[in-house]
Amino acid sequence: MEKSKLGPEPLIMPMPALVVGANVNGKPNFMIASWCGIAAFKPPAITVAMNKARYTLKGIRENGTFSVNVPSCEIIKKTDYCGIYSGRKKDKSQIFKTFYGELKTAPLIYECPINLECKALHYLDMRTHILIVGEIIETYITKGCLTDGKVNPEKIDPPVYIRSTMKYHRLGEVFASAFNVGKENGDTRNPETILSNNIGGLK
Ligand SMILES: Cc1cc2nc3c(=O)[nH]c(=O)nc-3n(C[C@H](O)[C@H](O)[C@H](O)COP(=O)(O)O)c2cc1C
Repeated sequence: MEKSKLGPEPLIMPMPALVVGANVNGKPNFMIASWCGIAAFKPPAITVAMNKARYTLKGIRENGTFSVNVPSCEIIKKTDYCGIYSGRKKDKSQIFKTFYGELKTAPLIYECPINLECKALHYLDMRTHILIVGEIIETYITKGCLTDGKVNPEKIDPPVYIRSTMKYHRLGEVFASAFNVGKENGDTRNPETILSNNIGGLK
């Protein structure tokens, strides 16, 4: 298959569109971050790559705490607003209804179905960006988004971001089962067993 070179760029696809919150000068501020990832299972940890100019970063440094919130497509307008305007120029503290948890200083968003309350563990200077590693202290989910105690992605309805087209998408149809479709013939283990073996080895 022929390939074209694009030059080095962080082209991964798709990306999440998450809302990161921090108190800046005592008031909640929010921005979108799609350059996010999971850092570890124990301790449960997440990474956010934040441009040095972000007002939200100032708040994270002030308190050592922040939130990562998974929005639903329903609130995309408010979410995108937080990615367009900086808290340096616009007061974004009233956009969402906020609440606080264990850490007391990480503003969590009611309207977002999932909220991760985080304590900043590491700041890695990557020149344009600071890579923040945050330990997840508590995870909150809107009760209606659980079905039989399991997180229901259709009820969460999270937007997915595609950088090359600058569009938000909805989740598409299920087309295969993870830890399953790639199994060798005769492998009778169920996906849950394979998954827990994978994690178990790292405990
Ligand atoms: C879809 C989308 C994804 C974004 N992802 C990031 C990101 O991962 N890191 C970052 O530093 N800025 C990202 N931004 C830009 C910030 O959200 C934006 O500059 C915001 O206004 C910063 O707000 P603040 O200055 O109040 O912190 C993204 C914006 C959009 C619209």
